[in-house]
Formats: sequence, structure tokens, C-alpha cells
Amino acid sequence: TGHIDDVQELRKAKPTLIPERFVRDATERPTLQSANRFPTTCVVLDHDSYDVPIIDLSKLMKVDEDEGSWRAEILKLKRACQDWGFFQVVNHGIDLSLVEGIEEVAKEFFMLPLEEKQRYPMVAGTVQGYGQAFVFSEDQKLDWCNMFALGVEPQFIRNPKLWPKNPPKFSGTVEDYSREVRKLCQNLLNSIAITLGLKEGTFNEMFGVGVQAIRMNYYPPCSRPDLVLGLSPHSDGSALTVLQQGKGSSVGLQILKETKWVSVQPVPNALVINIGDTLEVLTNGKYKSVEHRAVTHKEKDRLSIVTFYAPSYEVEIGPLPEMVDEINNPCTYRRYNHGEYSKHYVTSKLQGKKTLDFAK
Ligand code: SIN
Ligand code: FE2
Repeated sequence: TGHIDDVQELRKAKPTLIPERFVRDATERPTLQSANRFPTTCVVLDHDSYDVPIIDLSKLMKVDEDEGSWRAEILKLKRACQDWGFFQVVNHGIDLSLVEGIEEVAKEFFMLPLEEKQRYPMVAGTVQGYGQAFVFSEDQKLDWCNMFALGVEPQFIRNPKLWPKNPPKFSGTVEDYSREVRKLCQNLLNSIAITLGLKEGTFNEMFGVGVQAIRMNYYPPCSRPDLVLGLSPHSDGSALTVLQQGKGSSVGLQILKETKWVSVQPVPNALVINIGDTLEVLTNGKYKSVEHRAVTHKEKDRLSIVTFYAPSYEVEIGPLPEMVDEINNPCTYRRYNHGEYSKHYVTSKLQGKKTLDFAK
């Protein structure tokens, strides 16, 4: 560990060297056929032919002023959740200064000397700290990515030792940004409930004081993007995820649409939202938590800032009665405690949708 597995250090010292630990088996490489668990060959689609839907939050928030445009946007959101599990949101209400601010402190943090970042090492059995997460064996392939992850809310999930003093604005910016992203998640959960024919407050009331975490991913350029993955395929354990792609970053996020990997093209000032495992279970699979991954680029680096929003740990999760119908929609997930799921998630390796087997 230490220097040899840190992709930024690798890139600095020997830009053309890809250690074996990062070289994926043929079936996992980001080019052409991907995982053999799919019925047909996976191809990366030309991005012009397929695009993740774009939702305008300002239209969702204006119920009284313009009933027609609200209704149309709700329908668009419903389709996005049903057909994609991913969408981009514009007019999301988060101040540009915070969007730029979080990116700036994240970048500054990753550019610190390794020794300084290693004062906040990834804590085993959690996803908090700096380094590689989700690694459980010596022969497991590593992602071409450095992560820095923190539990944010509620307060008791914070590990104060992991909040860096440097850059000085880091902690304050994470707090301010997170407060705004939380509101966004709650607004979206209200609208999502409506798309399902549920009472607006269904999810927010059920979730209580939601658990929120932030993860910054930094992918240096890689001389062999055809051999490595920036981030292994996975679905998120959250209810909702909010992802900010760095300005000028490489296009790296790909989502699995049926059997094809589709690149998510950054839209200026938009945030990428996706449905996590928890909403898949609550909706009895009506809305799916879609598998995604990140790929690397030969010359460009990539920064992404990801917020996970999930229910309070003590909440019982299982398909909502309204989503189950014995004949047409039999219940396909069991009931479980969200805290247990969360623990299960952070102690499993990223491997497609395998973590959801827990709910079967
Ligand atoms: C993720 O954390 O799943 C997203 C990775 C990225 O877009 O960089
Ligand atoms: Fe993810």
C-alpha cells in the first residue's frame, strides 16, 4: 500500500506504467464486451444517440403558478426514473459559488502532498477517509481513482479526525454545500413520491433525519484507459445520489442502459441524480438502481463530487404496500433495517448490483 497503490503518485513517477493490480481481466475492460453476466455484448454507445433526461427543478417547484408545466415535468421525471434511473437536474437552486467552491476545495485537497492526505487514511470497514475503498483482498483489482469520503449528517456519523484542516475552507464548504444538496434531495424525493402516486411527504417522513455522506473521486489521466477502470461497476446503496462532475473533467461516468454502457455528457451547471438501492426496494423495483462505472482518459483528469442521501439507520426498508400487488407486482424484496444494509454495503466490494442480493 502507500505510494505504490496511489494512482496520483503512479502517474507522477511513471506515467506509462500500469501495475498489474490495475489491469482488468479481458471481460472487465471498458472496451467492447463488458461483464459476462449480460445476455449480449456490451458496447459503449455513441453519446449523441442516447442521452440521460434533463429535469428542470424550477418547474417542479412551481405547482401553483403553472400547473401545466409542473404536470409535464412530473411526467418527465417519472419517465426518467422508470426508464433510466438517472437524470440531470438544471435550475437546482444550489448557488454557483457553492458548486464552484466545493470543486475548488476538492481539487486543492487532492493536490496536497501524499503524506498530508495520508493523515486521513481510509478507515477499514467504512468508506471514510482518503485512499481506496471497497478493497478486501490482495488479488482484487484496484480502481484508477483516489477517493476522499466523509460522513456528514447526522453529526454522530462524523469522524472529526478525518476532516482536513487544509485547505482551510474545506470543512466549511463541505458543510454549506451539503446543506443545500440535502434540500435538493428532499425536494426531489417529494416529487418522486408524486410520480409514484404517493403522498408528497412519504419518503421524507419515513427517512427521518436522513444520513448524508460525501465522496470526492479524483481520476488522474491514465496511459492505458483501455485496460483499467476508474471505478468498478456498482449500484449505489443510497436512496438518491447527487453527482457533480468537475468543470473541464473528462467524460467518465457511464451507466448501464439495458446492455449498453452510455456515457453521461456533462451539461453546464447541471447535477446528475440517480436512484439508489433503497428506492429500488421501496418501489418494489418499479424504479431501478442502475449500475454505473467510471472510465479514465489518456490526457484528461476527472473530478467528481458525490453526495449519498439515505434514510436514518433505524428505518425499516421494504417494498411499500402501495407498490405491491399480489397478481401484477408481487413483492420481490424482503424487509430489513437500513443501518444493516448500509454496513453490508460498505463492507462489500463493488460488483455490479450484487449488494442488493442482501434484500432478496
Ligand atoms: C460514482 O461515484 O459512482 C460516480 C463516479 C464518477 O462519475 O466519477
Ligand atoms: Fe455510484
